[in-house]
Amino acid sequence: MPKTILKLSNLRKIYIMGDKKDARRAQKEIQKLHKKYEQAYADTNKNEIKRIGERLESAQTMFANEDYTGAYNIVTGRKIKPHTSHKGVVVHALNGINLSIEEGEMVAIMGPSGSGKSTLLNMLGLLDEPTTGQIFLRDHNITTIAKSRLPEIRSKELGFVFQSFNLIPSLTAIENVMLPLKYSKTTYGKRRQMAEEALRMVGLGDRLHHSPNELSGGQRQRVAIARSIVNKPAIIFGDELTGELDTKMTKEIMQLIIDLNQKGQTFVIVTHNPEVARLCGRTIKIVDGKVASK
Ligand SMILES: Nc1ncnc2c1ncn2[C@@H]1O[C@H](COP(=O)(O)OP(=O)(O)O)[C@@H](O)[C@H]1O
Ligand SMILES: [Mg+2]
Repeated sequence: MPKTILKLSNLRKIYIMGDKKDARRAQKEIQKLHKKYEQAYADTNKNEIKRIGERLESAQTMFANEDYTGAYNIVTGRKIKPHTSHKGVVVHALNGINLSIEEGEMVAIMGPSGSGKSTLLNMLGLLDEPTTGQIFLRDHNITTIAKSRLPEIRSKELGFVFQSFNLIPSLTAIENVMLPLKYSKTTYGKRRQMAEEALRMVGLGDRLHHSPNELSGGQRQRVAIARSIVNKPAIIFGDELTGELDTKMTKEIMQLIIDLNQKGQTFVIVTHNPEVARLCGRTIKIVDGKVASK
């Protein structure tokens, strides 16, 4: 039986811009109700989960249909007079995402520009908080973890590979790869050894002391991949990780990722490139902040 490593439950991210007072008021009440929902969830109080869940669901549906005063009323039981000023916009960047990713999967996330892919990655990478909804990493609800603990969880459990590599130019390859190990309780010598091993795994055993500007684009991405695997994270997230590479380099980097995946590493890769998606075991398509197919 494969184990679920990442689960998203009704994940929403809403941006309210400008003078949308009704929307802001309704959103605040919905978030309060969501806290109660999470408490019921933590207490495994089935009746409350059902009762609050249903109310939350209808409030969110009303909110999504721009009935902000209706949503406010459903949550609080009180009526408000609609505001006369309606300048601004409400963007449903993520509009109720439900999905599960199993241990050892290699998943592509695709979708048109503006569909919510980067927002989703920011939530999954613990860089930004969802408006409502839950993210489970293994069995832990990471949406309820104290903010001060997030950097450590991020560094221990998650790996990242970006389009633009994001290496620190003043550090050598091995020093860049050692960065995620700052929370590990091992000695400097051990950390250096782990970084060296990761660089060997990506075929850069002979480039340990090069700085990023002494490496090719493909080699820089290999360093970034070594950095993402060095502490054996639960999941590695890629955001257009082949976006700045030519066709040949893209093939090489994807082959490296496939090899790591076959050794059991879970990958979630946002891409526009159908060739990259084709190499993944499954493609999740996001349209207008929702999962269109998975
Ligand atoms: N910080 C923000 N403030 C307001 N709106 C945002 C913000 N970030 C993203 N959006 C909006 O959310 C939607 C999803 O954006 P994004 O996640 O960047 O999509 P993608 O990565 O799929 O192109 C877009 O309509 C975008 O304009
Ligand atoms: Mg994007």
